[in-house]
Amino acid sequence: MDLEQALAVAADLETPVVVRDDAVMERNLAGMAALAKKADIRLRPHAKTHKSTAVARRQLEAGAVGLTVATLQEAEVFADGGADAIVIAHPPASRPKLSRLAHLAPMVRRLAVAVDDIDLATAVPVGVDLFWEVDTGLHRIGTAAGEPTVEAVKKLVAAVGAERFRGLITHGGHAYRSQDQPQRHQAAEEESAGLAETAAMLRAAGVECREVSVGSTPPAGAAAEWPGVTEVRPGTYVYGDAGQVALGSMAIDDCAVAVVATVVSSPAPDRAVLDCGSKSTASDRIAPVLGDTFGMVLGRPDLVIARLSEEHAVVTAPEATGLKVGDRVAFIPCHVCTTINLHPYLLAFDDRGHTTWEPVDARGWR
Ligand SMILES: Cc1ncc(COP(=O)(O)O)c(C=O)c1O
Repeated sequence: MDLEQALAVAADLETPVVVRDDAVMERNLAGMAALAKKADIRLRPHAKTHKSTAVARRQLEAGAVGLTVATLQEAEVFADGGADAIVIAHPPASRPKLSRLAHLAPMVRRLAVAVDDIDLATAVPVGVDLFWEVDTGLHRIGTAAGEPTVEAVKKLVAAVGAERFRGLITHGGHAYRSQDQPQRHQAAEEESAGLAETAAMLRAAGVECREVSVGSTPPAGAAAEWPGVTEVRPGTYVYGDAGQVALGSMAIDDCAVAVVATVVSSPAPDRAVLDCGSKSTASDRIAPVLGDTFGMVLGRPDLVIARLSEEHAVVTAPEATGLKVGDRVAFIPCHVCTTINLHPYLLAFDDRGHTTWEPVDARGWR
């Protein structure tokens, strides 16, 4: 993120505003595409990070085979925008969601959902393929890697037919709990080895498993190289955030998105208050290694975004903040996906300072 440009393009705007450095984003897109190409595996980026049809288009142009999404709304918006291969990595439980899925199916050439429940799998409309979700360490959803998954998938195939079973999927989100590089490596290994070994067991049991799909930005490099993995689904890599920087999976210079905010109060030498809060920047610090800040203030590593209320961010410094009312700061949010979701538009700028308001057209949670 070019700090000078970020502040310059927002100079006449009300804050808080999200800005994007397109040169950095393009570098991230090209880097991940090259990594997947070198490893000869498919890249299916998770579009929940950007929620933008314009960015999705760039990912597909850069070599992605399709998109991963989390919500039906994202699937609908990206399908409308021309994406024809979409994996919904979230179970569409409940009748209203299943009927929305049935409406969507004819609009997408290759549509699939991830499930971990046989009854739900049998209710998924024909025309929609199925991934089986495996828990490789996050302990969110999915059957445990190994025998429990093999048994479950045999039942799935008996219930829906082998041709609708696309493969195994997992999300190695436990990498975010890593405290250091060895722990991050271990999470990557659990994710990739856990899934690849389970796929091998399935095949040995006579079940065809075409896809072995792992996903998450911190272990993406290791996952791409892992024998047996067929596709990676990183999301955050496109923009980066302070969590990735703290984890060591991205550098601060790789972060393409920042929140620009204005100092509205400077009530004590070591405390200032910005005009942004949990309504405009993420309050979910998913990487504990980031510590007690909600973001990294560019050019001011001494500042800590210590507290958020809805429209206030309290910034502290060990000595003096040096900030006065009216000053502007730009910071990399702790979690970029949830920050983006709070903004209907972001301001993109290129290296010549040209700006475009880009809609975050798949934002929301439906
Ligand atoms: C199922 C699934 N796949 C892929 C991703 C992308 O992970 P990351 O944001 O670490 O790149 C996520 C993120 O939450 C996810 O939930």
